[in-house]
Amino acid sequence: MKNIAIFASGSGSNARKIMEYFAPHAEVTVQLVISNREDAGVLEIATSFGVDTVVIKRKDFYETDDILSVLEKYEISLIVLAGFLWLVPAYLVEAYSGRILNIHPALLPKYGGKGMFGMHVHEAVKAAQESETGITIHQVNAHYDEGQVVFQARCEVTPEDTSTDIARKVQVLEHRHFPEVIDQVLAKLP
Ligand code: GRF
Repeated sequence: MKNIAIFASGSGSNARKIMEYFAPHAEVTVQLVISNREDAGVLEIATSFGVDTVVIKRKDFYETDDILSVLEKYEISLIVLAGFLWLVPAYLVEAYSGRILNIHPALLPKYGGKGMFGMHVHEAVKAAQESETGITIHQVNAHYDEGQVVFQARCEVTPEDTSTDIARKVQVLEHRHFPEVIDQVLAKLP
Protein backbone atom coordinates (compact mmCIF):
# COMPACT_ATOMS: atom_id res chain seq x y z
CA MET A 1 0.00 0.00 0.00
CA LYS A 2 1.18 3.53 -0.80
CA ASN A 3 -0.30 6.45 1.11
CA ILE A 4 -0.98 9.99 -0.03
CA ALA A 5 -1.34 13.18 2.01
CA ILE A 6 -3.08 16.05 0.21
CA PHE A 7 -2.23 19.61 1.27
CA ALA A 8 -4.90 22.15 0.26
CA SER A 9 -5.98 25.64 1.24
CA GLY A 10 -9.22 26.11 -0.64
CA SER A 11 -12.38 24.61 -2.04
CA GLY A 12 -10.68 21.35 -2.89
CA SER A 13 -12.13 20.41 -6.27
CA ASN A 14 -8.85 18.74 -7.25
CA ALA A 15 -8.62 17.02 -3.88
CA ARG A 16 -12.13 15.64 -4.46
CA LYS A 17 -11.14 14.22 -7.86
CA ILE A 18 -8.05 12.64 -6.33
CA MET A 19 -10.06 11.05 -3.50
CA GLU A 20 -12.68 9.78 -5.98
CA TYR A 21 -10.01 8.31 -8.23
CA PHE A 22 -8.13 6.49 -5.48
CA ALA A 23 -11.16 5.33 -3.43
CA PRO A 24 -11.42 2.03 -5.36
CA HIS A 25 -7.64 1.74 -5.96
CA ALA A 26 -6.04 -1.50 -4.75
CA GLU A 27 -2.59 -0.12 -3.98
CA VAL A 28 -3.00 3.56 -3.09
CA THR A 29 -4.93 5.27 -0.28
CA VAL A 30 -5.50 8.95 0.42
CA GLN A 31 -4.81 8.86 4.16
CA LEU A 32 -4.80 12.48 5.12
CA VAL A 33 -5.84 15.98 4.09
CA ILE A 34 -3.85 18.81 5.63
CA SER A 35 -5.01 22.41 5.42
CA ASN A 36 -3.74 25.73 6.69
CA ARG A 37 -7.31 27.04 6.98
CA GLU A 38 -9.85 25.59 9.34
CA ASP A 39 -12.71 26.87 7.14
CA ALA A 40 -11.34 25.33 3.93
CA GLY A 41 -14.01 23.47 1.94
CA VAL A 42 -11.55 20.66 1.34
CA LEU A 43 -11.86 19.56 4.98
CA GLU A 44 -15.55 18.74 4.60
CA ILE A 45 -14.88 16.88 1.39
CA ALA A 46 -12.19 14.81 3.12
CA THR A 47 -14.54 13.95 5.96
CA SER A 48 -17.20 12.85 3.46
CA PHE A 49 -14.65 10.38 2.05
CA GLY A 50 -13.71 9.19 5.55
CA VAL A 51 -10.24 10.73 5.19
CA ASP A 52 -8.58 12.14 8.32
CA THR A 53 -7.87 15.88 8.42
CA VAL A 54 -5.28 18.06 10.12
CA VAL A 55 -5.24 21.87 10.32
CA ILE A 56 -1.78 23.37 10.62
CA LYS A 57 -0.82 26.71 12.11
CA ARG A 58 1.74 28.92 10.37
CA LYS A 59 4.04 29.09 13.38
CA ASP A 60 4.07 25.32 13.84
CA PHE A 61 4.62 24.71 10.12
CA TYR A 62 7.59 27.08 9.79
CA GLU A 63 9.13 26.99 13.26
CA THR A 64 8.82 23.29 14.11
CA ASP A 65 8.91 20.08 12.12
CA ASP A 66 5.98 18.54 13.98
CA ILE A 67 4.21 17.78 10.72
CA LEU A 68 6.90 15.19 9.92
CA SER A 69 5.78 12.95 12.77
CA VAL A 70 2.18 13.20 11.55
CA LEU A 71 3.28 12.18 8.05
CA GLU A 72 5.35 9.34 9.49
CA LYS A 73 2.44 8.12 11.60
CA TYR A 74 0.30 7.78 8.45
CA GLU A 75 3.25 6.26 6.52
CA ILE A 76 2.89 8.85 3.76
CA SER A 77 4.74 8.01 0.53
CA LEU A 78 3.72 11.06 -1.49
CA ILE A 79 2.60 14.60 -0.65
CA VAL A 80 0.24 16.19 -3.16
CA LEU A 81 -0.27 19.96 -3.12
CA ALA A 82 -3.72 20.70 -4.56
CA GLY A 83 -4.21 24.42 -4.18
CA PHE A 84 -1.91 24.79 -1.16
CA LEU A 85 -0.86 28.43 -0.93
CA TRP A 86 1.99 28.30 1.59
CA LEU A 87 5.59 27.79 0.52
CA VAL A 88 6.80 24.33 1.56
CA PRO A 89 9.59 24.76 4.15
CA ALA A 90 13.07 23.36 3.44
CA TYR A 91 12.89 20.65 6.15
CA LEU A 92 9.82 19.17 4.46
CA VAL A 93 11.27 19.40 0.94
CA GLU A 94 14.36 17.57 2.22
CA ALA A 95 12.43 14.87 4.06
CA TYR A 96 10.21 14.21 1.03
CA SER A 97 12.71 14.92 -1.74
CA GLY A 98 11.22 13.86 -5.09
CA ARG A 99 7.99 12.93 -3.32
CA ILE A 100 6.05 16.22 -3.33
CA LEU A 101 3.92 17.13 -6.35
CA ASN A 102 2.18 20.42 -7.10
CA ILE A 103 -0.29 21.38 -9.78
CA HIS A 104 -0.09 24.85 -11.29
CA PRO A 105 -2.82 26.30 -13.54
CA ALA A 106 -0.52 27.51 -16.34
CA LEU A 107 2.31 26.34 -18.56
CA LEU A 108 5.33 26.90 -16.30
CA PRO A 109 7.76 28.62 -16.38
CA LYS A 110 5.19 31.12 -17.63
CA TYR A 111 2.85 32.66 -15.06
CA GLY A 112 4.46 31.08 -12.00
CA GLY A 113 6.04 32.35 -8.81
CA LYS A 114 4.86 34.20 -5.73
CA GLY A 115 1.45 35.83 -6.16
CA MET A 116 0.62 33.78 -9.25
CA PHE A 117 -2.33 31.77 -8.03
CA GLY A 118 -6.04 31.48 -8.77
CA MET A 119 -7.53 34.10 -11.07
CA HIS A 120 -4.31 36.16 -11.06
CA VAL A 121 -2.83 33.52 -13.35
CA HIS A 122 -5.72 33.49 -15.82
CA GLU A 123 -5.98 37.29 -15.84
CA ALA A 124 -2.28 37.49 -16.72
CA VAL A 125 -2.73 34.95 -19.53
CA LYS A 126 -5.65 36.99 -20.88
CA ALA A 127 -3.74 40.29 -20.60
CA ALA A 128 -0.80 38.80 -22.52
CA GLN A 129 -3.19 37.66 -25.30
CA GLU A 130 -1.83 34.14 -25.17
CA SER A 131 -3.22 31.69 -27.71
CA GLU A 132 -2.78 28.75 -25.34
CA THR A 133 -2.44 27.93 -21.68
CA GLY A 134 -2.67 24.76 -19.64
CA ILE A 135 -1.51 22.95 -16.54
CA THR A 136 1.83 21.94 -15.10
CA ILE A 137 2.36 19.15 -12.60
CA HIS A 138 5.81 19.41 -11.07
CA GLN A 139 8.06 18.29 -8.25
CA VAL A 140 8.28 20.77 -5.42
CA ASN A 141 11.47 22.42 -4.23
CA ALA A 142 11.99 25.30 -1.82
CA HIS A 143 10.92 27.94 -4.37
CA TYR A 144 7.43 28.61 -5.68
CA ASP A 145 6.69 26.75 -8.94
CA GLU A 146 10.30 25.85 -9.78
CA GLY A 147 10.70 22.08 -9.34
CA GLN A 148 11.16 19.60 -12.17
CA VAL A 149 8.20 19.40 -14.55
CA VAL A 150 6.51 15.99 -14.58
CA PHE A 151 3.59 16.66 -16.92
CA GLN A 152 1.96 19.44 -18.94
CA ALA A 153 -1.32 19.61 -20.86
CA ARG A 154 -2.44 22.49 -23.05
CA CYS A 155 -5.68 24.13 -24.13
CA GLU A 156 -6.49 26.83 -26.65
CA VAL A 157 -7.25 30.40 -25.59
CA THR A 158 -9.35 32.40 -28.05
CA PRO A 159 -9.52 36.21 -28.13
CA GLU A 160 -13.15 35.93 -26.96
CA ASP A 161 -12.27 33.91 -23.85
CA THR A 162 -12.65 35.81 -20.58
CA SER A 163 -10.36 34.96 -17.68
CA THR A 164 -13.27 32.98 -16.22
CA ASP A 165 -13.53 30.97 -19.45
CA ILE A 166 -9.80 30.30 -19.29
CA ALA A 167 -10.10 29.17 -15.66
CA ARG A 168 -12.86 26.76 -16.64
CA LYS A 169 -10.83 25.21 -19.45
CA VAL A 170 -7.80 24.82 -17.21
CA GLN A 171 -9.84 23.22 -14.45
CA VAL A 172 -11.12 20.60 -16.90
CA LEU A 173 -7.50 19.68 -17.65
CA GLU A 174 -6.61 19.58 -13.94
CA HIS A 175 -9.45 17.25 -13.05
CA ARG A 176 -8.78 15.02 -16.06
CA HIS A 177 -5.05 14.57 -15.56
CA PHE A 178 -3.95 15.15 -11.97
CA PRO A 179 -5.15 11.86 -10.43
CA GLU A 180 -3.65 9.77 -13.25
CA VAL A 181 -0.32 11.56 -13.11
CA ILE A 182 -0.19 11.01 -9.33
CA ASP A 183 -0.89 7.33 -9.94
CA GLN A 184 1.96 7.14 -12.47
CA VAL A 185 4.40 8.92 -10.16
CA LEU A 186 3.49 6.60 -7.29
CA ALA A 187 3.97 3.53 -9.47
CA LYS A 188 7.57 4.60 -10.10
CA LEU A 189 8.40 5.23 -6.43
CA PRO A 190 10.42 2.49 -4.73
C1 GRF B 1 -5.94 24.83 -8.90
O1 GRF B 1 -6.17 25.69 -9.97
C2 GRF B 1 -4.49 24.45 -8.83
O2 GRF B 1 -3.87 24.46 -10.08
C3 GRF B 1 -3.91 25.54 -7.98
O3 GRF B 1 -4.91 25.82 -7.03
C4 GRF B 1 -6.19 25.51 -7.56
C5 GRF B 1 -6.91 24.65 -6.57
O4 GRF B 1 -8.26 24.55 -6.87
N1 GRF B 1 -2.63 25.14 -7.45
P1 GRF B 1 -9.20 23.56 -6.06
O5 GRF B 1 -9.19 24.01 -4.60
O6 GRF B 1 -8.66 22.18 -6.22
O7 GRF B 1 -10.54 23.73 -6.69
